[in-house]
Amino acid sequence: MVRRRTLATAFTAGLVFALAACGGGSSSSDSSSSSGGNASGKIGVILPDTTSSPRWESADRPQLEAAFKAAGVESDIQNAGGDAQKMQTIAQQMITGGVTVLAIVNLDSASGAAIQQQAKKQGVATIDYDRLTLGGSADYYVSYDNNQVGQLQGDGLQKCLGATQANIAYLNGSPDDNNATLFSSGAHAVLDKVSTYKKVAEQAVPKWDPVQAQTIFEQLYTQAAGNIQGVYAANDTLANAAIQTLKRNNQKVPVTGQDAAVQGLQNILSGDQCMTVWKPADGEAKALSETAIALLKGETPKTTGTVKDTEANRDVKSILLDPISVTKDNLADVISKGAQKASDVCTGDYAAMCTQAGIK
Ligand code: GAL
Repeated sequence: MVRRRTLATAFTAGLVFALAACGGGSSSSDSSSSSGGNASGKIGVILPDTTSSPRWESADRPQLEAAFKAAGVESDIQNAGGDAQKMQTIAQQMITGGVTVLAIVNLDSASGAAIQQQAKKQGVATIDYDRLTLGGSADYYVSYDNNQVGQLQGDGLQKCLGATQANIAYLNGSPDDNNATLFSSGAHAVLDKVSTYKKVAEQAVPKWDPVQAQTIFEQLYTQAAGNIQGVYAANDTLANAAIQTLKRNNQKVPVTGQDAAVQGLQNILSGDQCMTVWKPADGEAKALSETAIALLKGETPKTTGTVKDTEANRDVKSILLDPISVTKDNLADVISKGAQKASDVCTGDYAAMCTQAGIK
């Protein structure tokens, strides 16, 4: 139940309560607010960055705006630009500005937990969006089933490799991101069982940073003397970093990815990437919006179960969605469902590849 907050600086309780109930708006340059609607109160969403994946600004933001607008709930969506301190500041500004439900994609569990503690003290409900905050206190967790994402990546790489002898290099996501741990464990659960596969290298990429990913994969490739037949890359950004090194060495081996980003789809069309995992942003945004609105109305959100936060030793009420494996065979679905535009993917040499893949 979201207790109606009273603004500490207000000059009369009655006026404050009225303002809070209507969710007095706040918006900054990189935020977007939609107003009006039937659920009083306001939801704040803080996205993590613009570099780890294009998804946050190209998919999550527009889908979240559409979902909140359709549901008639006031929202304020901002991006922390990869800076945990900035996320903290945005969170407090949002709460002061009337946000009564706060969703974050944490940059790391410690900073996420601190934000959630602060929010709770001010009577604001919190939701972990996409990433679980270990040791946090979120009331709900909305995401795709991230272990299942890893299993799809493992299955996809296995299908592309076949039963042959294969040395595999693992390029994992950020060590600060609980999802990255789940992706990797899901993939290993599949690949470690295949006796002809051998892990020759494995490293995590801090903050999912594409530049560091390039350097790290170059090192892994050199250490393996180029004797790599498959690459597990945790998302399309990391996949592209590995593919650049493989291309420079005139090598083309199966590489996994995630996010069905434009670059990932293009790499699949050209045969440089074996697969990606598509987590339709409209589905995740809708799940967040439904959960937030239920909280705003003092109702109990529908959940699919709980997820164990091993650090806080608590079962977090969760809404987990099913991810989709994408290869050249079903890549056209990502376009036909509107998750990416043909005009963005089918540029230059990719135009003919799109036609071959049945993309109009
Ligand atoms: C993960 C997210 C993935 C991936 C990565 C980089 O937490 O679930 O979709 O894109 O962050 O942003």
